[in-house]
Amino acid sequence: MLIREILDKQPTGQRLEVLGWVRTRRRSKNVAFIEINDGSSLANLQVVIDPDSPGWEHLSDLGTGASVRVAGTLLESPAPSQPVELRGEEVEVLGTVASDYPLQKKRHSFEFLREIAHLRPRTNTFGAVFRVRNVLSFAVHEFFQSEGFVYLNTPLITGSDCEGAGEMFQVTTLDIEDPPRDSRGKVDYSKDFFGRSAYLTVSGQLEAETYACALGKVYTFGPTFRAEDSNTTRHLSEFWMVEPEMAFTDLAGDMDVAERFVKHLLNAALKRAPKDMEFFDKRIAPGIMETLQSIVDADFQRMTYTDAVNELMKVKDRFQYEPGWGRDLQTEHERYLTEVVAGGPLFVTDYPKDIKAFYMRLNDDGETVAAMDLLLPKVGEIIGGSQREERYQVLYDRLVSLGLDPKDYWWYLDLRRYGTVVHSGFGLGFERMVQFVTGMANIRDVIPFPRVPGFVEF
Ligand code: 4AD
Ligand code: MG
Repeated sequence: MLIREILDKQPTGQRLEVLGWVRTRRRSKNVAFIEINDGSSLANLQVVIDPDSPGWEHLSDLGTGASVRVAGTLLESPAPSQPVELRGEEVEVLGTVASDYPLQKKRHSFEFLREIAHLRPRTNTFGAVFRVRNVLSFAVHEFFQSEGFVYLNTPLITGSDCEGAGEMFQVTTLDIEDPPRDSRGKVDYSKDFFGRSAYLTVSGQLEAETYACALGKVYTFGPTFRAEDSNTTRHLSEFWMVEPEMAFTDLAGDMDVAERFVKHLLNAALKRAPKDMEFFDKRIAPGIMETLQSIVDADFQRMTYTDAVNELMKVKDRFQYEPGWGRDLQTEHERYLTEVVAGGPLFVTDYPKDIKAFYMRLNDDGETVAAMDLLLPKVGEIIGGSQREERYQVLYDRLVSLGLDPKDYWWYLDLRRYGTVVHSGFGLGFERMVQFVTGMANIRDVIPFPRVPGFVEF
């Protein structure tokens, strides 16, 4: 039986069996206590073993990290810290533990634990992070399914650069030491696996748009890859993104969905992982539960980029990077806007077209696009989205003016030729959401095996 179920409300007196790993072991002459954890909950189950029980002879093999099966009788615990304990009547050591086991009872730094990412899920913090991540994953599907969206799997290998930022990992089977070359000496990608150059996707959006323009409302939830050389606490080279895309929806409707979605996720974490959330509140980010609840209860504010820049200009001396109309918002700017100006979640809308991707719908002023970013305290941008340019000629001209070849986007342009519709969508960085909910300071600690520049162990 799972330890979570046992601690929840199992009646005492019954005989049951648990399977797990030893967290700690204490023994004296006439009794031994073994704390067992099976990953189902933060809390351990305490097993009590007497010298006359058959488990006594195995005690020396039950060091921290050993795997074990214990059968026994569930008793009310005399200790106030736990409701029940298991009187171990049968103890089987499944796997002993080598003496160099790196997880000891003391606290380890997150930097150290990153180097043993294969073992860190056995710690309290990482167990809690990944149980909360699981709750959030399920809540993603629950939200979109309940709103009538169709779950779509977009390709990971692609020929197009959605964000146009050139931050793609190339996928090739050519011999990089000696690739085939054309008559001008350039690498001949027509000889490559796909008969052309190919990449890992940075976003499933363009493909999702094609399905939104047929099924109405779709969403993706999958890995995306960015070869950007950002060594920060908010960037990964491989991260998971949730991308809804909706036909017949404008920017205001897009933000409405984003707001409901974020609230649904925060609420799910609070309701379905209360013990783990209490742990984060106590140990990692004091006040986080109250913050999440206040966001669930709040109306998200909306502000144009132009107004946001005006706010930043009023206090421009406090920033390392100078703000200004036409410049991208830096994390310090985003944090000021959400933490100080709005005092909560903030949508910033209508960015200058020159700092946003080609697919965003041009506003009537000819200078800004119908874009939105959702900013949250501490993490800054968590969502980026927009209304998509649905007018064929406007989109065509924009591609050309950005130096992109419209021929490469023939199928994307076709959507604008065959029954075009107003449509919108957004992308939520899933790890940034897990980071926000748990209060973990570094994004590398909310994905099982982080991939970042210079590091691809495991
Ligand atoms: O703002 P981005 O680049 O938007 C897109 O990719 C759009 N195609 C989404 C859409 O409209 N369908 O990325 C979306 C979100 C960001 O707001 C951020 O939360 C996250 O993805 N993100 C990253 N998360 C971790 N590491 C990185 N390197 C990230 N880059 C973006
Ligand atoms: Mg963005």
